[in-house]
Amino acid sequence: MNKKITIAIDGFSSTGKSTIAKKLARHLNYIYVDTGAMYRAVALYALENGLITATDFDHEGLVSHLPDITLKFIYNPALAHSEVYLNGINVEGKIRSMEVSNVVSRVAAVPEVREKLVEQQRFMGRDKGVVMDGRDIGTVVFPDAELKLFMNAGAKARAERRTAELKAEGREVTYEDVLRNIEERDYIDANRKDSPLQKAPDAIDIENTDLTIEGLFDKILKLVDDVM
Ligand code: DC
Repeated sequence: MNKKITIAIDGFSSTGKSTIAKKLARHLNYIYVDTGAMYRAVALYALENGLITATDFDHEGLVSHLPDITLKFIYNPALAHSEVYLNGINVEGKIRSMEVSNVVSRVAAVPEVREKLVEQQRFMGRDKGVVMDGRDIGTVVFPDAELKLFMNAGAKARAERRTAELKAEGREVTYEDVLRNIEERDYIDANRKDSPLQKAPDAIDIENTDLTIEGLFDKILKLVDDVM
């Protein structure tokens, strides 16, 4: 039997990280952890409790509320992946809204938020056999991961894909708003002081502008085979 490993998938927004991570976890029978969903759930909490708006952020208020925030992943057999629960409520649908996308990078820049979520992520991946996607998995959460991928794709291709996905979910979005949001999040995520988005020195670059999901998956499976 192959040994269990940790697979860290980092990269810019909407580069296909979670699609690949989910597919890989299913194929390997590994746990999949969508760390972006955790930051999104905290951002949703901040929005619902009036702690953040487009212009203001009561960031000390959010830090003082952190002990009241409980996040859990519960497996949904119908979808064959886990969904995120905020204080006992399934928020998987709500966290993908543009309202949340527009504030999440500011929430994710707060060191105390990161500290809490990173601790939980390390716990979820403690036994290996995990595929985790995010921005700091290969650099901060699991610097010893056996396989680290760093995904990128052109901003326009990403915005087109993301707009199509959101529309397919029945959300009213425009390509321009999605592109603006992707570019803004990339900037904040890559320039924050605490754990900025950056490629770990030992991560493998995956350029995904022109690849289909199948082409990308085949390429990544070969990389997995090499380390297993
Ligand atoms: O992967 P995503 O687009 O759902 O992530 C939402 C936001 O959360 C993203 O703009 C940056 C932040 N994030 C982070 O700072 N660290 C992670 N490990 C995952 C996400």
